[in-house]
Amino acid sequence: MGKLIIVSNRLPVTVSKKKSKFSFQPSVGGLVTGVGSLEMSKEQIWIGWPGITLSGYSTKSDTRELNDILAEQNYHPVFLKRNDFENYYQGFCNEIIWPLFHYFAQYANYEKSYWDSYKRVNEAFSQAVLEVAGDDDVIWIHDYHLMLLPGLIRKKMPKVKIGFFLHIPFPSSEIFRLIPWCAEILDGLLGSDLIGFHTFDYARHFLESARRVLGYEHTLGQITLGNHVVKVDTFPMGIDYEKFSKAPENKDVRSSISKLREGIKEDYKVILSIDRLDYTKGIPERLKAFDDFLDRNPKYKGRVIFIVVAVPSRTEMEHYRLLKEQVDNLAGRINGKHGTIGWVPIWYMYRSFDFKDLTALYCIADVLFLTPLRDGMNLVAKEYVATRNNEDGVLILGEMAGTAKELGEALIINPNDLQGTSNALKKAITMPINEQKRRMRSMQGRLERYDVKRWAHDFMDRIYHIKEVQKQLISKGLSQSRRNKLLESFKRSKKALFLLDYDGTLMPFNERPEKVKPDRELKDLLGSLSRHSDNQVVIISGRDRKTLDRWVSNVSNGLVAEHGVWIKEKKFWKMIEMLSDEWKDEIKPILEVFVDRTPGSFIEEKDFSLVWHFRKVDPALSIVRVGELKDVLLHITANLNVGVLEGNKVIEVKDTGINKGKAAMYWMSKARWDFILSIGDDWTDEDIYEVLPEWAYSIKVGFGPTKARFNLPSYREVRELLKDLITKKSKV
Ligand code: UDP
Ligand code: G6P
Repeated sequence: MGKLIIVSNRLPVTVSKKKSKFSFQPSVGGLVTGVGSLEMSKEQIWIGWPGITLSGYSTKSDTRELNDILAEQNYHPVFLKRNDFENYYQGFCNEIIWPLFHYFAQYANYEKSYWDSYKRVNEAFSQAVLEVAGDDDVIWIHDYHLMLLPGLIRKKMPKVKIGFFLHIPFPSSEIFRLIPWCAEILDGLLGSDLIGFHTFDYARHFLESARRVLGYEHTLGQITLGNHVVKVDTFPMGIDYEKFSKAPENKDVRSSISKLREGIKEDYKVILSIDRLDYTKGIPERLKAFDDFLDRNPKYKGRVIFIVVAVPSRTEMEHYRLLKEQVDNLAGRINGKHGTIGWVPIWYMYRSFDFKDLTALYCIADVLFLTPLRDGMNLVAKEYVATRNNEDGVLILGEMAGTAKELGEALIINPNDLQGTSNALKKAITMPINEQKRRMRSMQGRLERYDVKRWAHDFMDRIYHIKEVQKQLISKGLSQSRRNKLLESFKRSKKALFLLDYDGTLMPFNERPEKVKPDRELKDLLGSLSRHSDNQVVIISGRDRKTLDRWVSNVSNGLVAEHGVWIKEKKFWKMIEMLSDEWKDEIKPILEVFVDRTPGSFIEEKDFSLVWHFRKVDPALSIVRVGELKDVLLHITANLNVGVLEGNKVIEVKDTGINKGKAAMYWMSKARWDFILSIGDDWTDEDIYEVLPEWAYSIKVGFGPTKARFNLPSYREVRELLKDLITKKSKV
């Protein structure tokens, strides 16, 4: 059945060493609390960093001891040296990715040494995974620290199942592209079978980045790269609902609640906020809104308290130290301004709490007040809702948190709107109990249904599903045995016909079509093949006559230009049937208008067709323009004998009576062939496969739907096949 290997930067425990003894603290953060609460049916291993750097446990016996202790819980530590901790974790992860992905671009520091360290540490994690992983396992990688890991593992284990989940936002492509190494990061992520995000927006941004940075298109979130398909999807992370909803009945929680209550007057309204002390959480904005609330509603003085729990986080980093100073000062200033002898408005705690005390806090809070400026999800909000089993309590939530998409019944605020936020506080404190219950109940229903187990199972199911999609896709792959049959059949043949498309089949695509001249290798291959008198090598292309004449006429012995309009057998070009080009006068001016309105596009004019190329156009704009152009053209060409066809980054207008299939039939009628091989990469080649006899070999380059019998991933494999064919004959 295989194991589940969870990989994240941080293990669920954080180790520290004091007076030569190890101590173990539960790690904080949504990733470890969420993923750590999973009980899967599979055997489970967790690979991650134990939280201290090598100097803290540098002796071999220390690392051995730590390995043994952690192994008892199936935790496999990856040790970081001090230098990597600084450059990879603090540097790349927390000085580039964290601020940028949370739209704090001004905090990003693009140090090359950070990137080098990030690559090195991802390599180290991949070694750790490869030591324990088998082909039947599922490897589930978490978060922004390990974005190169899927690609690194994929290189070594092409078949293994790899899922990646990002726990933070994925920013708009405009922001993502600021990273000098953004292409490598995308490549790394795309080694996964499944990439999951909390919200649809994050998934959308990722797909847009893949399109803009790498030029990869997707269909309904599926990106096809050779014979590998990656699915990008949305999985809003849930919580262990049952555990939180039962907490108020738990004995330890009850006694913790009693202790808390002793210190809080019964008629106080309790406002609570809990988060790591992070600049993304909007803590200063929240304190200022509370200050404003007291200014504008003085009658609540002495009647509300605001418990602010700030959990220490990334304390060695400057922005976090500065934020701590700012929050300390603000809390002090507001308490000084409004406080009285018997009443302190803000109860500020800089520490973390365990489950019992945390849920006790949720239980006593009338209002949970969260104002993140940006947050991937925010599990604290969900945990509060789950714990309110009396169905009362009000949640105030910043709209830039992923959770806000799911918890629409919360009071949703914009944390930058000070007055709006302070108004929400008043509304929360005065909300009638019936309304509180109505809102709370529907949020609870949703969270109970989509809890963390459902989240994890959904994710796992999708991984298995995408593996099936991949299998079907490669079912036409040219396996070794199929390849051997093809080669044998060629070896035995007396008269062989090759119908070879050019662009995308024998040569890779280029933004500028005029740059796709055949290279030495291709010329040698075609030359060797066509020199043999038993072989008829026909290049059957959409290109114009002149180009084919210049590029491939002396390495082939047959040409077809403009998708079948022109045929060249010996010295001269001829037409299969008479065509007219009068329609061009009507169509060309329309295309010219589109060229003027669409930077990067251009027109290619052939004898009997006009082509609008848009490979260099901004992808988002090209979607709009293609729609518009097709609309206009279909309308105008309705009464003409021409058709509008969409190809690989082109719109082509041409005579409907002509296609590559007709041209293929012409060549097929020329002799009694006992071997035919046709290779192409796009829809225009499908017309050829349709007219071929059943025994002929047809191959599509790429893995989309096709009538061809087989697939090959790219022009490189086509060239390999041609090489093998040549060798096979020369051995006869
Ligand atoms: N948490 C905790 N003790 C604390 C404060 C928070 O265990 O004193 C946990 C909390 O239960 C939640 C997680 O830390 O599961 C915080 O996750 P969230 O998604 O809210 O924010 P993140 O820290 O991941 O940005
Ligand atoms: C967020 C991230 C986690 C991270 C946590 C705590 O929840 O998504 O990956 O573990 O913050 O941050 P830290 O830097 O202490 O691991």
